[in-house]
Amino acid sequence: MGNFIAVFDSGLGGISVLREMVRIMPQEDFHYFGDSANAPYGTKTTEEVRSLTLAFVRQFLDEGAKAVAIACNTATSAAVRNLRELYPDVPLVGIEPALKPAAEQHPGGRILVMATPMTIREEKFHLLLSRYQERAEVIPLACPGLMEYVEEGKADSDEVRDFLRELLAPYLDQKLSAVVLGCTHYPFVIHRIREVLGEDVEIYDGGEGTARELRRRLAEAGLLKPKQDGVQGIVEFRNSDPSPEKIILSKRLLR
Ligand code: DGL
Repeated sequence: MGNFIAVFDSGLGGISVLREMVRIMPQEDFHYFGDSANAPYGTKTTEEVRSLTLAFVRQFLDEGAKAVAIACNTATSAAVRNLRELYPDVPLVGIEPALKPAAEQHPGGRILVMATPMTIREEKFHLLLSRYQERAEVIPLACPGLMEYVEEGKADSDEVRDFLRELLAPYLDQKLSAVVLGCTHYPFVIHRIREVLGEDVEIYDGGEGTARELRRRLAEAGLLKPKQDGVQGIVEFRNSDPSPEKIILSKRLLR
């Protein structure tokens, strides 16, 4: 077995989760793989996303990954159950929309969950919803087209602001108390979402919780490297899209 952690997403979004992992486990080595050539996943069928995810995870394990993080809400909802059945001994984490903290901290509030069409359609999300529906009013919002701005390096563009203005216009006078970013690409446009919705709306994403869960799983399996002053692991980026720009953009997003 190698000594690295494989982090997977449909593209570059999972880097928002990776950066939390690097922050709390700087001593670990991470191999990030983005499947930008097949992105977006959110508008594909569940079967397509499941088979892509299973194939990539098998490859990471063949390469010697000691743990796997599915840093993609969409791939998690399509494949995490199968992965846990296939690899019960591998520390494996997925990500889901951070509705739990949002609902707990805003009882009786109105919470908008932004995610891909597939995440919102899947059973996993409906189960999550049923757990918190009593506590707050939850409004799911599918956002096809949003992740592409991050993939294309346009997270700071005026185009994404205009896109968000139109997408979020129906919710501006709805007194939202919180927004959950249920797709790992969206934290890269959080400043644009704030610009549209204002500073009073609290925004949640699952990146930090997922990183902490991974650390807990590694420790439990005796696979967490001890932290040492000045010891910094490596972060390697790979992408199914062969253009060098994807790797350059990946490094930029990590910073
Ligand atoms: N980053 C992915 C997620 O967290 C989805 C983006 C896509 O549609 O590929 O759901």
